[in-house]
Order: sequence, then C-alpha cells, then structure tokens
Amino acid sequence: MEDCTFVIFGATGNLAKIKLLPALYRLDVAGRLPAGLKVVGFGRRDWSDEFWREQVHTWLAEKPVDETAVTRFLQRLHFFAGDLVEEQAFHGLRDYLTGAAQFSPNLIFYMAISPADFGRVSGYLGKVGLSNEQGGWRRLVIEKPFGYDLESAESLNARLNRDFDETQIFRIDHYLGKGTIQNVLVFRFANLMLEPLWNRNYIDHVQITHSESLGTEGRAGYYDTSGALRDMIQSHLLQLLTLVAMEPPANLDAESLRDEKVKVLRSIRPIHQSAVNAHAFRAQYAAGRVDGESAPGYLDEPGVPANSVTETYAALKLYIDNWRWRNVPFYLRTGKRLEKSNSMVSIRFKHPPQQLFRETQIDRLKPNWILMNLQPHDCIRLEMQVKQQGLEMRAETTRLDASYCGVTQAQLDAYEALLLDVIDGDHSLFLRYDEVSWAWRVVDPVLKAWSSERDFIHTYPAGSWGPKEAERLMVRQDQRWRNTLEEDAE
Ligand code: BG6
Repeated sequence: MEDCTFVIFGATGNLAKIKLLPALYRLDVAGRLPAGLKVVGFGRRDWSDEFWREQVHTWLAEKPVDETAVTRFLQRLHFFAGDLVEEQAFHGLRDYLTGAAQFSPNLIFYMAISPADFGRVSGYLGKVGLSNEQGGWRRLVIEKPFGYDLESAESLNARLNRDFDETQIFRIDHYLGKGTIQNVLVFRFANLMLEPLWNRNYIDHVQITHSESLGTEGRAGYYDTSGALRDMIQSHLLQLLTLVAMEPPANLDAESLRDEKVKVLRSIRPIHQSAVNAHAFRAQYAAGRVDGESAPGYLDEPGVPANSVTETYAALKLYIDNWRWRNVPFYLRTGKRLEKSNSMVSIRFKHPPQQLFRETQIDRLKPNWILMNLQPHDCIRLEMQVKQQGLEMRAETTRLDASYCGVTQAQLDAYEALLLDVIDGDHSLFLRYDEVSWAWRVVDPVLKAWSSERDFIHTYPAGSWGPKEAERLMVRQDQRWRNTLEEDAE
C-alpha cells in the first residue's frame, strides 16, 4: 500500500470522533496502515497539532486502548485550522500539504461534513488544484446522504464531476463494510447447493429489516428533513437487496460487481404514484416504553417541529421483474424506537408441494428460512424441519448455524474495512453514481406521494414492533414480519 495523507474535513465532528479516528487507530494497531500515512484534521477551531492529539487521545480512551499504540498513532496526526466556507483556507491547505516533505502527495479528502457543503468543498479543492492528480493520486470520500432525491443527487454529482472524475470518488455506504454483507456474497457464490434454490421457484418472499431501539439521538435536525425511507431504505437496505438478488458477477472486480447491482436496481418494478399506498407504509413513534424505561414520542424529542409528519418507520414492498425474481415480494422495513435493535435478511421458502404429513400429528409444516443477521450477531442460520424424538410423528424446527452465531467475535467496525479500501483504491464496496441514481428512482414516487400528504401519519408505541397496519403490505395471509433471529417462525 502506498503512503498517503488522509485529510478529514469536519475533524472535530461526531463522525470523526466516533468512527473515523477509532477505525484508523485500530488499523494502525493491526499493522495495516502504510508507514508514511499522516492524518490531517481540517477544522474551524484554532487547534495546534498537540491540542488535537490530546483531543483524539481522550476520544480513543473512551474504549480500552493500548497506550503505547495510541502514542504511536497520535504521531501521525496534524491539524490545519481553516473555515471550509472560505476559498482562502483551501489555498492555505494546498500550501500546507505541498510544502512539507512529511506529507505524501497521495491525498485522500474525507468529507465528514454536512451534505450541504459537499459541492462547495469539492469546488474549492478543484479551484486550488488539489483535485489534479499530478505527482500523486487524489481521492474524494463522500458520506451519505448523496442528494435528497433524484434531482438533487444529479446536480450534486454534476457538481463533483466538474473537479473529480468517477475513479476518484468513493461514495460510502457503511453497510457494505459490515462482515455479514460481504458474507452474503461468499455464502451465495461459494456454495453450489444454494444456487438452484435461489429463485422464484423456491423462494416465497424476502424480508430485509433494520430495527433500532434508539430514537433520533440528538440528530433531529437532520432526521426530520430526511425520514426513515431516505435515511435507511434508499441507501443501506436497497444495497442489501442488490447483494441478495444479483446474478453472479463476471468476477469480483469493482465494475463487474457494481454492474450486477445496477441491473437489479434497474429491474425493480417502478411504483406508480397511484399505487404508493399498496407498496409503502409509514408511521411515527408515539410515547411508550423501551427496555422497561418510558420513552417520549417523536414529536416530543428535542428539535422536532410540533406538527412534523416525518416517518420514523417505513416499509416497502418491491418486485424485481427479471427471470430469477418475478413476482417474489421483497419487503424492506426500518424503524426507530422499536422493541429491539436488529438487522436481518430473512428468506422464506415455499411450502413443499405435497401435504404428505396431513394424516399425522404434523398438522402444518413450517417453511424453511435462511436468516442472515448483520447485528447484533454476525450470523447466517438455516431453519429446517426434522422429526422430534419419540414415538409420535411430530416435526420441530432445527437451526443450522452457518457462521459465527452466538460466538463472541471481535467484530470489525465497518469503517475499518472501508477506509482500508479507500487507501488501497478499491471501489468494490463503494457506490458508483448509477447505483445511487437508480436507488433514488425506486423511492422517489413514494417520497413525492408522502410529501403531498402532510396532514396524517399512523403512529406506533415506542418499544413495540411497529404499527400493525404495516402487515397490509404482505400479499398472503401466511406471510408475517420476522423480527429477530431467536423468535419462532410462524
Ligand atoms: C445511518 C443512519 O446511516 O445508519 C442512522 O443515518 C442509523 O439513522 C445508522 O441509525 C444505522 O447504522 P448501524 O451501523 O448502527 O446499523
């Protein structure tokens, strides 16, 4: 791996504090960072290198750390004080980075800043010559949300493309750095026995759920203008859907992988404006109890406007109109302040065609499931039916754990894998612009319909599994939301 200089815009903000610096520190401990990698924090505060190092030291020390390793890591850190709304600061940054031999000319610019500033910062970088790859490479890392809808995503992309080309841009979706997500590819494509079953002939439906017991956690300003559909479904859950549904790629290089993902997104049946209610459901949490503690409703959270109809729960039914998946419903669902935090892909198989056991005590066989749990466990589980021990002809569910279920694993944080890929220049786990754009096309009709219906939203009590009414998306009576790995299937 080549040396590089990792510049963080928004170095004093939450993302840098909670994710980026801890991930860089852990990569350093694991010996994965190039020896000459330096981290330059860019921020408005007038901090010295020493002061920033002390800050970062306290941030890291919130978790157990190895003091010798921290001291070594801190030597990589430098601070550049500047205001990102001022062009002058970028001239200063360029002189600072190019004027000292300790900084490698390979530059990574990480935008840990408000999305409203993405275009401005990339424009200034271009203007002062910092996007130009003479003498070293330049990479721009963009956090989500990439746009607010299709139109704003298009204009943001056009703006970035004035100074950076697609090969320089890394659009992060941190879900792609999670272990189970990468395991979806291995599980699907390294096991021959699954492929013949992975289609509309055997699969009844697919559920992709991300539930959180937390509320908006001080992010109401952002969240209220976003809502659950934009915040989770347009990005993370649609990405998951592409990996579950895609065809085997020609190989694992970034373009082949992303070509297949785009094909899935392009095959999703468009939701007609008049059909939004049949395909989408939204709701907002009211007061309730989470983990035995009383929790306020969304409207009583600090910073939420009293008349907000922003959804904190969204569910979507999608169809992928291709040979493999036609007419298999994909149910996507996410919510804040639900009973438990859990992220899972649940694949339900059809019932066997013949009711062979009808005359026995096995009255109704439960279907097979494949459950891919992203968190809290990193786990892939198969549920199958076997005969109970004893004289009676009864069936019971047996669970085959195909991964680390229940074994405490030092789970890697998604950012570790992703930052390493940026340093290495590997785009496989980053979004190409056409993926983002097709994902917006999927949700745009729903967003439009919801933004015009502003006087009513269903509610659900905090701490529940969400509104009962969301079941109406299911196409058949025997389909039900699957909430956790442990709960019994129906
Ligand atoms: C973020 C969303 O992208 O993902 C948050 O903005 C959400 O609202 C978070 O809580 C979930 O990520 P994770 O890694 O905690 O599952």
